[in-house]
Amino acid sequence: MTWTVRLEPIGVTATLADGQPLIEALVDHGLHVLQECGRRGMCATCHVYIEQGMAQLSPKNRREERTLAVVTTAQPHSRLACQTKVLGNGVVVRVPQGMYLDVMEDIEALIGRRTEQDLVHPITGEVLVETGKLITRSIVDQLRATRIQVSEYLRQTREASFSD
Ligand code: FES
Repeated sequence: MTWTVRLEPIGVTATLADGQPLIEALVDHGLHVLQECGRRGMCATCHVYIEQGMAQLSPKNRREERTLAVVTTAQPHSRLACQTKVLGNGVVVRVPQGMYLDVMEDIEALIGRRTEQDLVHPITGEVLVETGKLITRSIVDQLRATRIQVSEYLRQTREASFSD
């Protein structure tokens, strides 16, 4: 059995097999999802908002609840796409605006240019660099420091999840 899922604001309809994680629909349609934690529900780089059809999704597990609790942009209808299985038709997903902090080389290449969209923190969803801001060397250095914090956070979370 397959289900259709609507992705907004790009206006795409994706098809997923019963029980397939929502993240597959995002990746299949070329959306850049960083998947920093390897789809283990620990990084929130696959955070999406469910506009319709919450009842057609698998319930949140404990890890997803814990991760969403530290995402500053999370709302009651937030889900982590890697942890969310689609179980029926009628799901409408809104992908958050903004580009997650990605490979540092890509950001280095932006020095001297203006951001075309917000750069957001991969864990908290906080906006690090707003749209239209000029990327300078010092911004890149700050982003690099954030990147190190993110790796450290994921390492600690991974260790904590093994001792659960
Ligand atoms: S990919 Fe990390 S939480 Fe989904």
